[in-house]
Amino acid sequence: MKAKKGKTKAKPQAKAPKLKQEEIEDGAFEEYQEDPVKMVREVLGSALWSHQKTLFEYVRDNPRVSWRSCHGIGKSFGVARLVLWFLFSFEYSIVITTSPTWRQVEKIVWKEIRSAYANAKIPLGGNLAPKATQLSIDGDEWTAMGLSTNMPDRFQGFHAENLMVVVDEAAGVKEDIFEAVEGVLTSEHCRLVLIGNPTDIGGTFYRSFREPGWKTGATSAFDTPNFTHFGITEEDFKNNTWKEKITGPLPAPWLITPAWAYDKWVRWGKHHPAYSARVDGVFPEQGEYNVIPLSWIERAQNIWEETEVTGQPVLGVDVARGGMDRSAIAIRVDNKVLKVLAFHGLDTQELAGEVIRVCREVDARLVNVEIDGLGAGVADELKKHRDIPLNEVTVGSGSDVVDAKGNRVYGNLRAQMWWALRNALDPKGDMQLALPPDDDELLADLAAPHYNYKSGPIQIEKKEDTKDRLGRSPDEGDAVMLTFAPIKKPQHRLVIPRGAPVTPAWMIQGYGH
Ligand SMILES: Nc1ncnc2c1ncn2[C@@H]1O[C@H](COP(=O)(O)OP(=O)(O)OP(=O)(O)O)[C@@H](O)[C@H]1O
Ligand SMILES: [Mg+2]
Repeated sequence: MKAKKGKTKAKPQAKAPKLKQEEIEDGAFEEYQEDPVKMVREVLGSALWSHQKTLFEYVRDNPRVSWRSCHGIGKSFGVARLVLWFLFSFEYSIVITTSPTWRQVEKIVWKEIRSAYANAKIPLGGNLAPKATQLSIDGDEWTAMGLSTNMPDRFQGFHAENLMVVVDEAAGVKEDIFEAVEGVLTSEHCRLVLIGNPTDIGGTFYRSFREPGWKTGATSAFDTPNFTHFGITEEDFKNNTWKEKITGPLPAPWLITPAWAYDKWVRWGKHHPAYSARVDGVFPEQGEYNVIPLSWIERAQNIWEETEVTGQPVLGVDVARGGMDRSAIAIRVDNKVLKVLAFHGLDTQELAGEVIRVCREVDARLVNVEIDGLGAGVADELKKHRDIPLNEVTVGSGSDVVDAKGNRVYGNLRAQMWWALRNALDPKGDMQLALPPDDDELLADLAAPHYNYKSGPIQIEKKEDTKDRLGRSPDEGDAVMLTFAPIKKPQHRLVIPRGAPVTPAWMIQGYGH
């Protein structure tokens, strides 16, 4: 417990003293119980936009509220202010916030809480230390705190007459947390608020929009101020007429903008799961056929900063097949993809040059190159350099992984590798792979491929089919997938040139994988 009961620090230049515990207890904020929007305006000094206001009213009036939306509408901003409203207006309340990763708890929601608290027009009482994720008015009895989803046990044992649990980015939160949360929602005045991008079908967040008992809301980019102010609709994206409608400054440039959304329209297309979730604010169609759920990818991007690795990298090299495609080199160390480099318009020799440069620079222990198409030419170039630990990967070849009954598990090596990547990104899995944040191309590539699984082996759709849907080749995603290639066993007898002190390529490839 960092917060101490009733402690206030007098600052000579403070505009007004913070309210004391007794004053809050005497109902200093009680009048706002019925009007959270007014509290945000009068006490916290912020104006909410219409959907934020509706969310606040829903939470005031309903025990369970779930809201799905596109990116950047002020969800986390809203969550932070909801926390402060509930905590300060309801006596001896307990508020718990959580998000899929600790970074999101600490650096997103609690950063917003700290900012709202520090900038309040009427300095609030209670204790909130810099960087803290707990704000206490009276110790553990009257408090708001951020909890990590790594510890479901921590969600147990809270009892208060007024209790609120707020889950930001709810699609990425694991089911055991929701189960634990159910256990604390026992008192009369309880609130459970789920809010987030609709990235993942299945799970409590998804079901909250289909099951009774929830008050739900939704926001698409086209509902938000920077669109409605100028009357921009999806038709304007189709006809590319959105720009000419913007005749003045954006009313809320901090929220999602038409330029950002249109960029995704062009890059991802309307039917990409990332577009559905981040622009339309709807759950992706056919999400059950996606190899990797979008929420797993987002989570992997969120743990990137805190994931520490040491050791030698593996490179995955995807070679462009045609004019518009890019070649990509992914650099992975253990459970962290450090970076994916993409190149336009390089011939095989030039790309081999880049691979050699990167390999030497990062001291890679393995270089996996897809050789089904033009990659064979790149591999031939690399073979001329003995220090390059080349592993040639024929992605269309058969996979030799079998189940306990001896049946083949994967349709081919491509399916095997995509599945290895899927397992690596599975939040319940052992590996917890981290992906570079802010790489939207990679996110889109990884979210695009579909699979078929009926009774036979797992089949991943052909790259051409993914390309048709994505509107471009998923090169960055394939490069990451290639870092999961198994090491090819030597198929031919090795011919070692006379007198040459060479280490056979397969021995170099073999170590430490
Ligand atoms: N009503 C508001 N007044 C002023 N600033 C706001 C308001 N709502 C949101 N913002 C600001 O807009 C930006 C985006 O808000 P926020 O991060 O809360 O959106 P989000 O919907 O949670 O985004 P994401 O989808 O990325 O999680 C932030 O800088 C936030 O502080
Ligand atoms: Mg947010």
